[in-house]
Amino acid sequence: MPAVRKLLELSSAVRHQHRLTRSRPISKPIIQATMPVDYSTASYWDMRYLNDQADKQEWLITPEALDEHLVPLLSQESEILVIGCGNSELSAYLYNQGYMNITNVDFSAVVIAEMRERYVNLPSMAHHVMNIARLDFSDEEFDVVIDKGTTDSIFCGGDSFIRANAVFQEVHRVLKPDGLYYMVSHAGPDRRREHLGRGIPWKSRLHRVIEHRSQAVHLYASRKGLPLTERQPRVEDADVFSDSVARGHRRVPP
Ligand SMILES: C[S@@+](CC[C@H](N)C(=O)[O-])C[C@H]1O[C@@H](n2cnc3c(N)ncnc32)[C@H](O)[C@@H]1O
Repeated sequence: MPAVRKLLELSSAVRHQHRLTRSRPISKPIIQATMPVDYSTASYWDMRYLNDQADKQEWLITPEALDEHLVPLLSQESEILVIGCGNSELSAYLYNQGYMNITNVDFSAVVIAEMRERYVNLPSMAHHVMNIARLDFSDEEFDVVIDKGTTDSIFCGGDSFIRANAVFQEVHRVLKPDGLYYMVSHAGPDRRREHLGRGIPWKSRLHRVIEHRSQAVHLYASRKGLPLTERQPRVEDADVFSDSVARGHRRVPP
């Protein structure tokens, strides 16, 4: 994988330079000073995963805290796609609970290599290097697409509205009829509702707002296909978009 080799060489060169000078802490400040920070680029994330080998932070919410909200929406037969998996433990957590048809994608070749190695003992869990704005899957392959903090990072980059729309179009395309896109975000509906609804024929709802590590975490559920009126009411369809966020606020123990 030439891109990964190049990054490894670059990282090793920076460490070598530090060993020579021994004047100040290595890599992170040096690299960040010379690279523009754009969360929507693979090079930013490759560099971050190379430099933060010890950084196994879960973005926004831990799998354990997400469990009671997400797991009731899954079935053990669900074909699940996790977009922008990073080095999160969410997929392995679900796998170990019996949700074993999981495909993970991320455009960072560095983190995908790391995850393949880490989860070599979970045989039916796949990892692919892929840009989620151009998913290399057929139409209607997945029952559920999970996004934890991934489109948030796209909204932090250049051309964010266009890129996020491309991702939503692709997610909709690969979802089966009645499939579910579950998006976990730091952003409230004032900053996400318009984008989720722009030209995508799914029904989006703010499913829950919970507090985790003293931060509000927004859980959005977008259901492809069947109009709301033709289905049995479900918990996840509760429409709190038009209500105050505080009314949907639930406290979850840390
Ligand atoms: C904020 S991190 C979230 C990681 C993980 N989902 C978690 O919860 O810990 C965003 C992740 O999305 C990936 N990502 C961002 N834009 C992407 C894109 N266009 N295609 C594929 N992956 C992308 C990044 O490489 C990074 O791993």
